[in-house]
Amino acid sequence: MKTILAIETSCDETAVAIVNEQKIYSSIVASQIDLHKRYGGVVPEEASRQHLLTINPCVEEALQVAKLTWNDIDGIAATVAPGLIGALMVGETAGKTLAMIHQKPFLGIHHLEGHIYATYLSQPDWKPPFLCLLVSGGHTSLIHVKDCGIYEQLGNTHDDAAGEAFDKVARLLNLGYPGGPVIDKLATRGNPKRFSLPEGKISLPQGGYHPYDFSFSGLKTAVLRLVEKLKQENSESLPIADLAASFQETVARSLTKKTITCALDHNLTHIAVGGGVAANSGLRDHLQEAAKKHNLTVHFPPLKLCTDNAAMIGCAACDHLKRGHISSWNLGVQSRLPI
Ligand code: KG4
Ligand code: ZN
Repeated sequence: MKTILAIETSCDETAVAIVNEQKIYSSIVASQIDLHKRYGGVVPEEASRQHLLTINPCVEEALQVAKLTWNDIDGIAATVAPGLIGALMVGETAGKTLAMIHQKPFLGIHHLEGHIYATYLSQPDWKPPFLCLLVSGGHTSLIHVKDCGIYEQLGNTHDDAAGEAFDKVARLLNLGYPGGPVIDKLATRGNPKRFSLPEGKISLPQGGYHPYDFSFSGLKTAVLRLVEKLKQENSESLPIADLAASFQETVARSLTKKTITCALDHNLTHIAVGGGVAANSGLRDHLQEAAKKHNLTVHFPPLKLCTDNAAMIGCAACDHLKRGHISSWNLGVQSRLPI
């Protein structure tokens, strides 16, 4: 059994965790949301600076909470791609430095692989093959998980990620940042059928539509046009809850439809969901209902494992280290890298 100290700094959470394959000893997440809130989104330079200030205290806290010492640690992992380049560099440099000082192997982990491993942390019996729907602020992907390190991306977004669409629509409705949780809450008291909005479709050169690829920028523009029209008709008040519910319904329907089609086409009976948008109640309801109808099993990890954290990075690193995979000291960070 390998014990890993893992670092995740790809976006706006400074996270450090200590895990082995069966246990999370500690999982520290220092969120920068309050810092970025006033700008309405993540400011990359601010994120890097904040990671620098927070990383060492987070490492110390992770060891303290776990009641472990460096002697108990078998390897050090850090997210190396994809993400904000400066933010990734802070975690990678900290991870490599600690690995050199304490003479441990270093493992650079792909952020999306971490999201996939969140499933194993919360469902120890879960095994590949399965389909993973990753829906976060930066990603919307359908990944066929075949084994440790063997993945096939079957679907992707061609523009905005699902979480990004929630954040942008929330911004145009003046609901603050991050938008997903606010829209989700508002949607519970809105009418999802009030406004009919377009589900994004990706045309194929040979005609028809890509069955598993996503697009959310047209939907966001449709909400913008609708808001402008509603404001012209009645400048007094916007039906915010109905707008939120109709938007959420459209996103949830689109994600569900493509995920189920993809699973059925590839004979995959198990679906795992990851990323911050996995918290969305509309998506949970739609996907669970559709999966039941088609006799498929869906697993949503607990929320703290769906949003960015280092425990999922550590869990992926445990599996790699067990198989003897170790990264070279020359491994750098990359802002974009397919899984
Ligand atoms: O996975 P995550 O913490 O960070 C990234 O890797 O991006 O996801 C953050 C995203 C944000 O866009 C946020 O608005 C969205 O997840 N989100 C939600 C909900 N909670 C968080 N979107 C929809 N409904 C929610 N309940
Ligand atoms: Zn993420």
